[in-house]
Amino acid sequence: MPDALLELEDVHAYIGQHHILQGVSLAVRRDAVTVLLGRNGAGKTTTMRTIVGLLHPARGAIRFEGQAIHALPPYAIVRRGIGFVPEGQGIFATLTVDENLRIARLRDDAESRARLARVLELFPDLERFRRARAGTLSGGQKQMLAIARAFVNPNRLLLIDEPSKGLAPIVVEHLVETLRALKRHATVLLVEQNFAMAQALADDFFLIDDGRTVRQGPMAALTADEALKKRYLGV
Ligand SMILES: Nc1ncnc2c1ncn2[C@@H]1O[C@H](COP(=O)(O)OP(=O)(O)OP(=O)(O)O)[C@@H](O)[C@H]1O
Ligand SMILES: [Mg+2]
Repeated sequence: MPDALLELEDVHAYIGQHHILQGVSLAVRRDAVTVLLGRNGAGKTTTMRTIVGLLHPARGAIRFEGQAIHALPPYAIVRRGIGFVPEGQGIFATLTVDENLRIARLRDDAESRARLARVLELFPDLERFRRARAGTLSGGQKQMLAIARAFVNPNRLLLIDEPSKGLAPIVVEHLVETLRALKRHATVLLVEQNFAMAQALADDFFLIDDGRTVRQGPMAALTADEALKKRYLGV
């Protein structure tokens, strides 16, 4: 894909002896939201971990802005501008919201301070609870803080793993609204099991099953394909 910011080409990866990824190919277009779908255990989280260098592919290629990144260590990949929001948040419960955002920054200069101010505008809930300890936030607010932490750096790509997991439906709706606002500012690769959320946010989809890409296309095509949704996603 010529305008792809990130490309995975036939990626294979092992965890121990287990051949988990067996041919994942995907492309993330600049300024779009791409959703990675697949049933439990399909390899979605493993794909994200491989992109950020926590696992190295045994075969295949990962390119970011046209350059191969699959042999780089995680810190080098993060420095190129890929932010990762893992499942289960990874925030510091005993620190305040403000402290969580400050320590997430890779640099402390005028630009990063300006970015921090902008992040608080994009997440009014966090602005309101700036001085509260992160552990006291609601589940939805904690998820927003986790995403905001990736936003304080000038990332060109955000990887967000199942942000709706464990959240009540009404909270998910609020999260969708917030992420919609962020769409204008970022390219996102989203893993999401909540189909309504995926549908509300995504431009493109990639469907993986048993560690392989089995289908891809515009999100609207998946929305219309009842048989495909039923077969792979149980919706
Ligand atoms: N540390 C590990 N050791 C062995 N197998 C693992 C390990 N982590 C993941 N797996 C296996 O790899 C496969 C893919 O797991 P992965 O977490 O990537 O799936 P997923 O699509 O993110 O699933 P979920 O929807 O449940 O989050 C699963 O079969 C899982 O059991
Ligand atoms: Mg997962």
